[in-house]
Parts: sequence; C-alpha cells; structure tokens
Amino acid sequence: MYIPKPLEDRITIPHLKQLKQQAEKFACLTAYDYSFARLLEECGVEVVLVGDSLGMVIQGHETTIPVTLDDIKYHGRAVAAGLQNAMLMLDMPFGSLNSPQQALDHASELIKQTEAQVVKLEGWESQLPIVENLAHFGIATCAHLGLQPQMVHKMGGYRVQGKAEGAAAQMLATAVDLEGAGADILLLECVPAGLAAEITATLTIPVIGIGAGPHVDGQILVLQDVLNVTAGKKPRFSKNFMQDQSSIQDAIARYVSEVKSGKFPDESHSFA
Ligand code: KIV
Repeated sequence: MYIPKPLEDRITIPHLKQLKQQAEKFACLTAYDYSFARLLEECGVEVVLVGDSLGMVIQGHETTIPVTLDDIKYHGRAVAAGLQNAMLMLDMPFGSLNSPQQALDHASELIKQTEAQVVKLEGWESQLPIVENLAHFGIATCAHLGLQPQMVHKMGGYRVQGKAEGAAAQMLATAVDLEGAGADILLLECVPAGLAAEITATLTIPVIGIGAGPHVDGQILVLQDVLNVTAGKKPRFSKNFMQDQSSIQDAIARYVSEVKSGKFPDESHSFA
C-alpha cells in the first residue's frame, strides 16, 4: 500500500518548474472545504484548486456559470485554513474577467481574502491581455485552454478540443503566447494526448492536465470524481479511486501515487 507523504516545504511556482525540469509528476485536486484541504495536504497533493466546479458538485447547478466571486472567496477561505504547504489556486468565476482592469480588481480581492498563490482563468486569446495585466501587478496565473466549462453554451457542449489540425495549431500558438504574456502555469482540459504532449514539451512553464493524457507535468481531477460521489455520468477522464480502498485517505493517497508513478492516466482516460 502507498504510504502518504505529507509535503515538507511550501509549494511555489519555482518548485513546480523544478519538478517539470526533473520530469517528476505532481498531483493536484480540487477541494472546497477545510477538512478535505487538510486531508489532501496530508496525502501529498501539491496543488489544491478551489474550482468553479463547486457550482456543480457542491451547489448542484448544471454548469459552473452561476458561481460568484463571493462563492470562491467563501470556499477559498475555508480551504486556505486547511493548508500549510500545498499551493492554493482559485478559479476566477464566469463574469469576473470582462476586462483586464476588472480581472485585476477581482483577482486582488480574492488573493487578499484567501492568501491564495495563483488564480486560474478560462478564455481563449481573450486571456492574453488579462494574464499580461495580472503579471504586471505581480499576480501569478494559471491559464486554462481546451474545454472551457464557462463557455459551454458557446461551445455547444462538453467536447474534446483541438482535434482538427487548425484547432490544434491554434491552441499551441495560444499556449506559447500565454507563456509569453506571463502565465505561470497552463491547464489543459479535454485535449488529445498528443497535442497536450507537444504543448508540454514546448512550454517552460508547468502544464497540468485533466483529460489531456499522461504526457503533461501534473494531473488534476475533481475530488468528487476521485471519491466516486459525483451524480450522473462520470467523465471518461476520471477514475474511481475509492475502488478497492477502505478509506478516503487511502483513495487520495492512491491517486497521488498513481499520478507520480505515471500509472494514472492511461489510455482509457485519454483522448486521441
Ligand atoms: O473548476 C474546476 O474544478 C476545474 C478543474 C476541472 C480543472 O477547473
């Protein structure tokens, strides 16, 4: 059985970059409260995201769109109370990024109230001026490409992105531009494994994947999927880590172990 290894040092952006350079995988998960944040940290999860997925798994909405800045603040403060060394990342919710100035005001407010280290933002090329502005004022960002759940209606559903040649080239170019604009981390959601591998090899910043295959620097899943308590159909890229485990702690420790050893994700959780 995998023995959880609590984090010994504060996880920082340079630390994640070092892991990338050493080709060491890191584990990320979502959390929305103090108790799970503590447990994740005890199991060695390096990055904890207060995702706007809370709109679906905590609040029971059909999409992430109704989540407010106050929701992220509330859950962000609760998660922050449970973390000592793991990196805390917060999602910027739908409607909080309508201009570089608005994004700066909202990101500053979130960081002041939660002491999060990184904010994550969705958007295609529209992220560029926002990332640039946040970087200018010293705010660390995780840009999010591929499937963008906040744009589900515009995209016409939750679908794998970057499959067509032109779309793949566009995603690679945008990823390079985002790194150039000052993004500190990139997250790829539902992207063909080959494209995610190419983006990861091209960028110097760490790349986190969810449904992006095994050849990225870190993996993330929604906690409820890992614990098999998500209602309805489970996404193909997720895995029930409770199977064959006798406690939640064992399941999370198993997730960390499989990410670090490269066992998760395999082909059955990836897209071609
Ligand atoms: O909101 C969220 O939980 C996310 C993850 C799916 C990466 O953005």
